[in-house]
Amino acid sequence: MLQHQIHKQPENHMMLAVCVDTPGGPENLLLRQVRRPQPKDGQVLIRVHATALNRADTLQRKGLYPSPPGESEVLGLEVAGTVASLGPGVTGCWGPGDHVMALLSGGGYAEYVTVPEELVMSIPAQLTLYQAAAIPEAWLTAFQLLHFVAVVKKGEIVLVHAGASGVGSAAVQLVRLAGAIPIVTAGSSDKLQMAETLGAAAGFNYKDEDFAEKVNNFTAGKGADVILDCIGGSSWERNVACLAVDGRWVLYGCMGGKSVNGDILGKLLSKRGHLLSSLLRSRTLQYKADLVKAFTERALPHFSEPTTFLLRPWTACYYQI
Ligand SMILES: NC(=O)c1ccc[n+]([C@@H]2O[C@H](COP(=O)([O-])OP(=O)(O)OC[C@H]3O[C@@H](n4cnc5c(N)ncnc54)[C@H](OP(=O)(O)O)[C@@H]3O)[C@@H](O)[C@H]2O)c1
Repeated sequence: MLQHQIHKQPENHMMLAVCVDTPGGPENLLLRQVRRPQPKDGQVLIRVHATALNRADTLQRKGLYPSPPGESEVLGLEVAGTVASLGPGVTGCWGPGDHVMALLSGGGYAEYVTVPEELVMSIPAQLTLYQAAAIPEAWLTAFQLLHFVAVVKKGEIVLVHAGASGVGSAAVQLVRLAGAIPIVTAGSSDKLQMAETLGAAAGFNYKDEDFAEKVNNFTAGKGADVILDCIGGSSWERNVACLAVDGRWVLYGCMGGKSVNGDILGKLLSKRGHLLSSLLRSRTLQYKADLVKAFTERALPHFSEPTTFLLRPWTACYYQI
């Protein structure tokens, strides 16, 4: 249905976009004509070919995660497409027709989107626009957590929860690239197998076994130097039990609940643990620009080497616009 309607030619100053007037389920998504954005100073207008589905989109659709003030209320945090036009003052090397992908604060579920030029990236050779649309949000999040928040070092053990998720599968590969050792949790043997294919040194099914005990065994009692945690409440006790002394526990999601009940502070203090947290979407443009630059220099070239990075099959969960 969406595919069918979206091929209708909009008037020049209008475009089709996926809108949500009433928060709720997918049935509340509306495809309708809205004003096409115009690139402002320093912005690039992208003709969207593909976008991706993130949990933030479903939360926003339900009314639980509004777009940051001043940003598009249209869903969609990442796109791949072609440069349609440039706003005044764009200094980069982008030109009309270039294939690009971009991190957005919103607005990707539309035919066109504007984005500051600093958040636009080239698409690595060998990747299609559809694959590229699945890169910015998950991979920049994982890169940010590892290098800007946890500041991972060579040889460290990094425990990645949801190791076969979008962010998790990117993190496993970026941990390897950083010369550290990824270990994962996941909820099925297929997912553990996949994480190991991507580079995980060990994987534990958190549904069947006590991952804290397994991590402590794997590290000869030392624990994980870094934990990337998108689960939160339901596994706090096991996280602190397998955090190394002086370790960094990085919270970036609460899929397992937001509340904790117990002596978390005492247990964290006994490990001299660092509890850190991060959200990418609400960061300043300068922070995101620094992140995109670092990712472009240090990680993006590895997508063109077939043996280095793999997009997990279901990460490429994209939509052709
Ligand atoms: N802070 C940020 O800036 C930022 C940025 C991007 C994403 N996120 C957050 O990161 C989390 C992961 O995003 P993603 O796109 O990587 O996820 P995803 O690809 O949709 O995968 C999520 C996986 O998490 C696992 N999981 C474990 N406990 C869960 C629970 N209680 N409820 C649901 N899933 C559970 C499931 O795998 P198993 O079968 O292995 O359990 C599930 O498949 C989300 O919470 C998202 O909102 C945060």
